[in-house]
Amino acid sequence: MIDKKLDSAVKEIEDLFEVNDEFLLKATDEFINSMNNGLSHLSSTRQYMPMIPTFVTSIPTGKEKGLYLAGDLGGTNFRVCSVDLKGDHTYDLKQSKFEVPKDLMKGSTSDALFSYLASKVKDFLKEHHSDYDSDERLKLGFTFSFPVNQTALNKGTLIRWTKGFDIPDCVDKDIIELFQSHIDLLESKVEVVALANDTVGTLLSRAYTNNDEESNAHTIVGSIFGTGTNGAYFEQLDNIPKLRSLDVPKGSTGMVINTEWGSFDNELKVLPRTKYDDLIDSETFNKGYHLFEKRVSGMFLGELLRVTLLDLFDKGLLFTDLYKARGGSLPHRLAEQWQLNSEVLSYLEIDDSTDLKMSQLVLENHLRLPTSKQERIVIQRLTRAISKRAAYLSAIPLAAIVKRVKPQYENDNKDLEFGCDGSVVEFYPGFQQNILKAIDIINPLKGTNKKIHLRIAKDGSGVGAALCASTSK
Ligand code: BGC
Repeated sequence: MIDKKLDSAVKEIEDLFEVNDEFLLKATDEFINSMNNGLSHLSSTRQYMPMIPTFVTSIPTGKEKGLYLAGDLGGTNFRVCSVDLKGDHTYDLKQSKFEVPKDLMKGSTSDALFSYLASKVKDFLKEHHSDYDSDERLKLGFTFSFPVNQTALNKGTLIRWTKGFDIPDCVDKDIIELFQSHIDLLESKVEVVALANDTVGTLLSRAYTNNDEESNAHTIVGSIFGTGTNGAYFEQLDNIPKLRSLDVPKGSTGMVINTEWGSFDNELKVLPRTKYDDLIDSETFNKGYHLFEKRVSGMFLGELLRVTLLDLFDKGLLFTDLYKARGGSLPHRLAEQWQLNSEVLSYLEIDDSTDLKMSQLVLENHLRLPTSKQERIVIQRLTRAISKRAAYLSAIPLAAIVKRVKPQYENDNKDLEFGCDGSVVEFYPGFQQNILKAIDIINPLKGTNKKIHLRIAKDGSGVGAALCASTSK
């Protein structure tokens, strides 16, 4: 049994995190509005999503061929890959992964960061392709998972950093130029020919591996639910008014758009808002931006749990004995920001052991936090409330894009599928099921017999970047 006062305080927080059907429908409509605004305006503001043109004008068929390199700077790691596209929906991949040193992620310089990235490309080539002796430079597609103002396949300036990166002198600089100059300094035979967001890569790689004759489904979205969240889809040129003033490759009928949906509803017209969300936003570098991401993605789920627990502690309802026993302190991983990883929440979420003994172990191991049974029950309830809200919110952009592209597929009877990547969607228990439940509520395919599928897209950013590179002339 839980103490009555604690129980009602927890209930109050659970209610704050509840989202209802009516909200899901309203938010989906608002998402479509925000897409339209972003597609009409070249300059990006807080009011609508950036909807960035990527200059990728076709979706792979699975027949693409050749050897390409890919670099991938995501949230925490830098990966270098070589991808041999076989032309039959398959590929061979070699890759190396490096954890980006924390001191390069913030407070450093763009030169320091890009010289590190270029050195890793060089190391990779030495290890895996020392026999490459053609005079032609290998083409590299660069997956750079931050908002970029892209003006050509190989041109784009950083709009702002997200996900804990903060290197001010990099903002407004051309990312490809920076990377290429450091690659040249190290005399590697590599040409950076394409800049791609990770979601664009995910869309392309899933479309390449998807044999739609077998799956009976078209890949319509590439999405990431990991440290951050975002999605890309293919839009008809007629629906992208802002492209009219830019150079669009001749003969194209549409273009992949990187929505940057992390920035959906920065004005909080429809999104749920709790004091915990406000607190977390105030702790971040990109305050006031990416407010959707701050409710959904892995970087923030643990932090949301941490601040709700601290609130209950402040009210004298949780960890009071522990605090006294420690002589007036809480374990630092609970007391300090960003110390609670979403992976920990995934264990708490599904614990069905007697007295939640598994959670006890996990909390001790990961947070050095001893707990009573009552405290573990509370922690599990809050974890589930936070993750369910995140998954339900994740359904909004996916359903909105289905509504949006539905007419493109009016004349065939294939299903529609999302290619998804990222630790949260791949590993968080129940996350995919909850997304699908919420999509069912929104029911974007009403009036058709088609179904929606969610597929995990492997190697999205590596293979996708290679595919982007393959489209460069
Ligand atoms: C970035 C996006 C990226 C997403 C997933 C967000 O924070 O703004 O560009 O696609 O994270 O990695």
